[in-house]
Amino acid sequence: MNQSAFPIPSPDLYSEEDIAQLVHTFYAKARKDPGLGPIFEAHVQDWDAHFVQMINFWSAQLRGTSRFRGAPMPKHIALPELNAELFERWLFLFRETTEEMGNPGLQQHANAIAAFIATRLWQGYQINNYPDRDLVALHTA
Ligand code: HEM
Repeated sequence: MNQSAFPIPSPDLYSEEDIAQLVHTFYAKARKDPGLGPIFEAHVQDWDAHFVQMINFWSAQLRGTSRFRGAPMPKHIALPELNAELFERWLFLFRETTEEMGNPGLQQHANAIAAFIATRLWQGYQINNYPDRDLVALHTA
């Protein structure tokens, strides 16, 4: 364990197949979700490209690969009407996914990163879209 209590990302920890399974299982849930599903369907034009993008993202986070090219913050800031409940729902489905994978190391590592990034994205979203409102915290515990 390093200082931040996350393992250092490494290709030795998980396989690309693990990452692909994580992304596909999560999206199978998210696309069926009454709150999140319509948002993804409205904003993702090319699902194959989105899956590649998300696999590259999670591979970078968990395995330390460097294929990901993207800008998550501006992409999320541009989505209309996100709120804390949607981010909390996203985290719930993500945690359900990692639990089902039956790999406690991956579960803990991926959940910690997801909570950290969700908190940052939601904070950035509010600062940009609702500059005059008080910040609403995300419940990530
Ligand atoms: C309310 C919760 C969320 C919703 C509704 C949401 C929705 C979306 C949508 C619609 C896109 C595609 C945007 C586009 O291509 O224009 C996207 C991209 C993405 N999302 Fe989310 N997202 C959420 C939370 C998260 C969280 C918590 C993470 C990370 C832990 C995340 C990681 C990403 C990444 C890496 C991309 C690709 C960004 C890029 O192409 O530059 N999202 N998301």
